[in-house]
Amino acid sequence: MQIRRIHALYFSPTQTTRTLVTRIAGTIANIGQGLPLDIRDFTLPLDRQEAPQIAGGELAIVGLPVYAGRLPNLLLPYLKSWKSDGALAVPVVMYGNRSYGNALTELRDILENAGFHSIAAAAFVGRHSFSDKLATGRPNQTDLHVAEQFAEKIVRRIACADGKNFALIEIPGQTAPDYGGYYRPLGVGGEPVNFLKAKPVTTQVCTACGQCLTVCPMGAIDAGNPAVVSGICIKCNACIRHCPAEAKQFTDEAYLSHVHFLENTYSLSKAAIELF
Ligand SMILES: Cc1cc2nc3c(=O)[nH]c(=O)nc-3n(C[C@H](O)[C@H](O)[C@H](O)COP(=O)(O)O)c2cc1C
Ligand code: SF4
Ligand code: SF4
Repeated sequence: MQIRRIHALYFSPTQTTRTLVTRIAGTIANIGQGLPLDIRDFTLPLDRQEAPQIAGGELAIVGLPVYAGRLPNLLLPYLKSWKSDGALAVPVVMYGNRSYGNALTELRDILENAGFHSIAAAAFVGRHSFSDKLATGRPNQTDLHVAEQFAEKIVRRIACADGKNFALIEIPGQTAPDYGGYYRPLGVGGEPVNFLKAKPVTTQVCTACGQCLTVCPMGAIDAGNPAVVSGICIKCNACIRHCPAEAKQFTDEAYLSHVHFLENTYSLSKAAIELF
């Protein structure tokens, strides 16, 4: 079969998912010589007000980061509002050197339930939102090369597809309804920790430039006073990474203990990309 248009859609507070998804979609568009490519970043609240329109005969590369071994749970209502009448999809998740848990299966199922047919799927590795010491510098050039080879494989699969019969892409692990639950974070001594209510604090070096406001995917930072995080924080770290004054940081003990646990356990390992 042939496709008429490619869509790159992603949620990416610290940009690793965006890098990967745009590389995959861009490579497919290049192979298709002028195939139109629509890029839709749904990281910010204003960009999640309407579900995307993706028709049959089109291809959507859909990427999200893994949070606690699953998809970011506050994104689920938006993702579940998507509908398609038979477009092809490629679910992609990015994980930070620990595990992608069952997030890829969850994304595949959401897309299938919305009327897409998944033609391939992948879990890639990106620098962990919490720490420079986990998957440092990834996705790197080697990862991007694998992304290009994956794009070529997608093109070959589409060329061989009859447009009517699609086998479900098999991904190992646990399935619906709870996909094995959410990963329960551990502290540096291996004890369970809970930092659900943690929020970044703002130090005195804040210049009130407002940059952090423009990147928060939850709209959690006060417009009148960007030193205050009054809304729900998902710990995505976008505000910390984008602050030019390095004024935002997490000081919550449970959160920092978990970061140390992750660094002690996973900083020396090199997590694998998995393609399906
Ligand atoms: C709240 C939260 C939970 C996370 N949970 C996991 C996890 O379970 N496993 C893992 O390997 N990485 C985990 N990560 C790391 C991200 O999946 C990873 O850094 C990803 O590349 C971030 O994507 P982005 O750059 O598009 O924001 C988590 C990150 C955050 C913010
Ligand atoms: S980006 Fe940093 S300096 Fe600018 S308002 Fe936010 S916390 Fe303050
Ligand atoms: S306040 Fe929380 S949700 Fe908003 S950008 Fe910062 S870490 Fe992310």
